[in-house]
Amino acid sequence: MDDLTTAGFQTLSDLESAARAKLTDPIWAYVQGGSGNESTVRDNVDAFRQWHLRPRPLAGIDAVDLRTSVLGETVSSPVYVCPMAYQALLHPEGEAATARAAAAAGQLAVYSTLSSRSLEEIAAAAPQGRRWFQLYLQPEFSASEQLIRRAERSGYSALVLTVDAPVLGPRDRQTHDGVAIRSPVPIGNGPGVVPPARAPAFQDGRYAFPPDACVDWTVLERLSRVTSLPLVVKGVLTAEDAAKAGDLGARAIVLSNHGGRQLDGAMTGLDALPEVVRAVGARTEVYVDGGVRRGRDVLVALALGAKAVGLGRPVLWALAAGGEAGVHRLLDVLNAEVAVSMMLAGRRTVAEIDRSLVVRRPA
Ligand SMILES: Cc1cc2nc3c(=O)[nH]c(=O)nc-3n(C[C@H](O)[C@H](O)[C@H](O)COP(=O)(O)O)c2cc1C
Repeated sequence: MDDLTTAGFQTLSDLESAARAKLTDPIWAYVQGGSGNESTVRDNVDAFRQWHLRPRPLAGIDAVDLRTSVLGETVSSPVYVCPMAYQALLHPEGEAATARAAAAAGQLAVYSTLSSRSLEEIAAAAPQGRRWFQLYLQPEFSASEQLIRRAERSGYSALVLTVDAPVLGPRDRQTHDGVAIRSPVPIGNGPGVVPPARAPAFQDGRYAFPPDACVDWTVLERLSRVTSLPLVVKGVLTAEDAAKAGDLGARAIVLSNHGGRQLDGAMTGLDALPEVVRAVGARTEVYVDGGVRRGRDVLVALALGAKAVGLGRPVLWALAAGGEAGVHRLLDVLNAEVAVSMMLAGRRTVAEIDRSLVVRRPA
């Protein structure tokens, strides 16, 4: 029996400690690490502290409702599970455990191209679950297309294109701790599926990247031609790119710096929210991820205009600490925190969490 299913835990930070105690140093470095000196990893968490809530008591609330919709699908909570590679490093069942827990909770989960389980196995583990497929473009477009076909056949209802990783960010902590995560466990979607390239080659005074790292906006049209799945673009941080993604047919965008694992020093998704929401209006749904660790963080993101909020590392901590039951409990704990915060803030529904709920912390 996994520890936490019996012991229970109170907060996400309890889970972090439990996971740390279970995992080897290299795997811990894989989960926690960011790029460079990890300033963006820290900023993601700190960004939420820059906002205060403006509670409205005496709102006569006897129950709160966390249900909302993402791209027209009803979900039980605005919190969804981010795509994260190689989940079998954390628990032998890997993404299958995550899928069952998310489905039982009625929450959306996004699965990585680099999942340890195949996308078909993930779908079979929780046929009723709401699932989206995250695509890392493959060196050959036909290989990306094959993955998309498989996702369509297996009931994935949106395609999430990650655009902030044409090459991997410099994962210094992983390198220091001695794990280059080069297929540490097999990639469930097949031996032919490859992660983003690593280092550039220095030649004649230039740093040259692998040819497939050279991607531009035309890829969105190319993808729209081969699938009718709604397209979500993950990893933009500016109003310009959010608007461009919408113009090119993206139905939603995820404001994300990849959990601080790509461009160290990049701004946070939360800080990007106000300008992006202003720029895209209602035509493109906007989600945000990075640094969400408490229920009140979810309220801040929603108040600033996010339609949904992605949860990353805490899911991996939960998986390591307690497998499927751990992830289930994590979602319960976080949703309960969101509910209590809503009650205390005087907001009965997700729709009532509006911009007037937050104010920038005094400098
Ligand atoms: C171990 C790990 C693996 C990840 N793998 C992927 C991936 O395969 N595809 C992707 O789009 N994002 C990936 N991400 C980024 C997450 O989807 C998400 O943007 C980020 O973790 C959110 O920040 P948080 O961990 O602070 O919640 C990964 C993140 C972590 C921590």
